[in-house]
Amino acid sequence: MFEIAPSILSADFTQLGEEIDRIEAGGATVLHFDVMDGRFVPNITIGLPVLKSVRKRTKMTIDCHLMIVEPNRYAAEFVKAGADMVSVHVEADVHLQRTLTAIREAGGKAGVAINPGTPLASLEEALPFADFILLMSVNPGFGGQKFIPTSLDKLRRLRRMIDERGLETKIEIDGGIDAGNIKEIVEAGAEIIVAGSSVFGSGTPTESVKELIDAGTVWI
Ligand code: DX5
Ligand code: ZN
Repeated sequence: MFEIAPSILSADFTQLGEEIDRIEAGGATVLHFDVMDGRFVPNITIGLPVLKSVRKRTKMTIDCHLMIVEPNRYAAEFVKAGADMVSVHVEADVHLQRTLTAIREAGGKAGVAINPGTPLASLEEALPFADFILLMSVNPGFGGQKFIPTSLDKLRRLRRMIDERGLETKIEIDGGIDAGNIKEIVEAGAEIIVAGSSVFGSGTPTESVKELIDAGTVWI
């Protein structure tokens, strides 16, 4: 079982409400909301006011990916503004356990995002406090980048790390995913699949979400 989480970063912001309806019609259950501050990553995107509007528009799970420095200052605010899931980068937070706890106390699911160059070992102490891990398969900052092939092995090792500890922590993966590689990614153990350009870049997001679900489904 896996869920598709279209990233609205690649949507047409002049018709964001309709774009949300389109992905929902295709069967998407999670909406991935990329927050960038121009410091942790070299790009600036959207924040709390947009989140509040999106919350009014949809009942989908809203998943905020905070690519910002000092995420502890804002993480709980995102839950209060309507996010169901909030992830912060392990590279950005020196008090990770405190931030994850604050997200949970605000009523959200707490996630740790990890860059391609960061070892999985850095997650070890945070795992018991995290509801999900967001494994980056590109360097964050932009949509439309190519999937870094070594991410597949990293994903398998993360799957093992969670299973060996008997944890329920979910695995989400983000960056460069399309109908051509989704199947091996699902087979490697990812449960929430983020897709930006492969959903909105096609011009037919409803069809693209359906295609991804089809391509990722393992028939037995
Ligand atoms: C990258 C973002 C991603 C991005 C994914 O920094 O975190 O969520 O929107 O876009 P694609 O699927 O085009 O790689
Ligand atoms: Zn993201």
